[in-house]
Amino acid sequence: MRLLKKVLAVGLASAMVFSMAGCGGSGTKGTTAASEATTAADTKKDESTAETTAKAVKDAVGGDLAGKKVGISIYKFDDNFMTLYRTELQRYLTEDLGFKKENVVIQDGKGDQAEQTNQIQNFITQKYDVLILNLVQASSAPEITDMCKAAGIPVVYINREPDTEEEQRWKDEKINATYVGCDARQSGTYQGEEILETSNKGDINGDGVINYIMIQGDPENVDAQYRTEFSVKALTESGAKVKELLKQRGDWDQAKAQQIAQDALTQYGDQIEVIFCNNDAMALGALQAIEAAGRTVNKDIYLVGVDALTEAVQNVIDGKQTGTVFNDHFSQAKTASDMAAKLLQGETVENVNMVDYIKITKENAQDTLNKLKK
Ligand code: GAL
Repeated sequence: MRLLKKVLAVGLASAMVFSMAGCGGSGTKGTTAASEATTAADTKKDESTAETTAKAVKDAVGGDLAGKKVGISIYKFDDNFMTLYRTELQRYLTEDLGFKKENVVIQDGKGDQAEQTNQIQNFITQKYDVLILNLVQASSAPEITDMCKAAGIPVVYINREPDTEEEQRWKDEKINATYVGCDARQSGTYQGEEILETSNKGDINGDGVINYIMIQGDPENVDAQYRTEFSVKALTESGAKVKELLKQRGDWDQAKAQQIAQDALTQYGDQIEVIFCNNDAMALGALQAIEAAGRTVNKDIYLVGVDALTEAVQNVIDGKQTGTVFNDHFSQAKTASDMAAKLLQGETVENVNMVDYIKITKENAQDTLNKLKK
């Protein structure tokens, strides 16, 4: 038990190293792409620490946590980023932490909160030991937390952040609940910086105003709200003048974003200098529309996304997307799993655990792609 506690603490620290080394600290202030390159020596050190840690945790899990059941519910399986995330969760819990495969069950919330609440209720009835939840609606957290609390089951929320009041309640009332995610303000800020780092700072036609369209994720989601707000804030805080031609919800979805971008390009034509997408799936859709309209990214239009999907990072390398932001699903999956293991051990954990984003531009895109494909 003691060993596991120590090991998990180290594991958590090492999970942060990749991102911290990449971003030069937390907060919403950006850094240059150059300063984000993790040195080879650091990476090697992190890898060996992570290996030692994982082995020790695995041994401990084999003893103390053998037979423990982890119930996971993802807001919907049909989401590019959350698919990477859930694959890594399953891999890390079973391969690195040693939970039995049959004891890690992942369910599809299908974008329906009522359905997901039922699934969670079933996990509770079947006496799962810990839950990792990516809620359909973050506003359901108080109700779900109370259900878990009544059953004595700890819960780790991921990706869709409950509001601060709810997170504070866990702390004040000593509820075994915690959140693991990223501060979306940081990703928005990085997107704005990527535009400011272009040769004409986003003002392609030189009229002194950056004309943009904003393709949003699900607006109920704080990631969508903050990315929308802070990408533009980075521009205005630098003194730039901006004009929003259009803001529309694309629900994180490639096909919806393609349609929105296509209609906007028809309506506003050359006026559009920048297309901000709250994620990469939508940036991929926007790129299809941009190419179909005969426009050229980085020449007569800029395009940015978030997540660092491999296709999008390849597009950054090829000059077909201006930049993206790595939404580090490896560190998030690791931190969430480590939190679940800690809670299973009866430890008290922080109520909010943030992993850093990493800004991806042409300079570090190849490096990132190599890491993603490893
Ligand atoms: C965001 C991610 C999106 C989508 C969303 C789901 O963090 O950037 O692509 O997966 O989470 O809540």
